[in-house]
Amino acid sequence: MGGQGKGSEMLRWQPGLAVGVPTIDEQHRELFRQVNLVLAALGDERGAAEVGRLLEYLGRYAVEHFAAEERLMRDTRYPEQEPHRREHVDFVQAFQEVCRSYLAQGPRPAVVVRLNVWLCSWLRRHVGQTDQALGRHLARAAAVQQGAASP
Ligand SMILES: [Fe+2]
Repeated sequence: MGGQGKGSEMLRWQPGLAVGVPTIDEQHRELFRQVNLVLAALGDERGAAEVGRLLEYLGRYAVEHFAAEERLMRDTRYPEQEPHRREHVDFVQAFQEVCRSYLAQGPRPAVVVRLNVWLCSWLRRHVGQTDQALGRHLARAAAVQQGAASP
């Protein structure tokens, strides 16, 4: 089990979560991997410094990943880019808040459970729904572009 016990909820990647854009799918897999590292560290009670470091890295990675998605949305004039971007902004805000409570209160069960449940459910829902819709749009945009390029 390697330190993933104690009720840690793990994020599992599934092919159905793929958006169809290799760079984005790779970034999602990496996000899932990093969340699992955070959850494992929390489950192991590995100390606030280590968890803090992992959280900081995850936060930075998420911001870069959201920026990459937002660039794609702009470049392809995605009609739903505003509500999608809003979800990213809300995530970053909530993430900072939950990190602050972790750093302030330490690994209290309430904070750990909140972080665990919230991270997993947010990512599953966002990647499974909001990003899927973006993936369908990008596939259409690519098909249109291909149609325009062919003679
Ligand atoms: Fe997204």
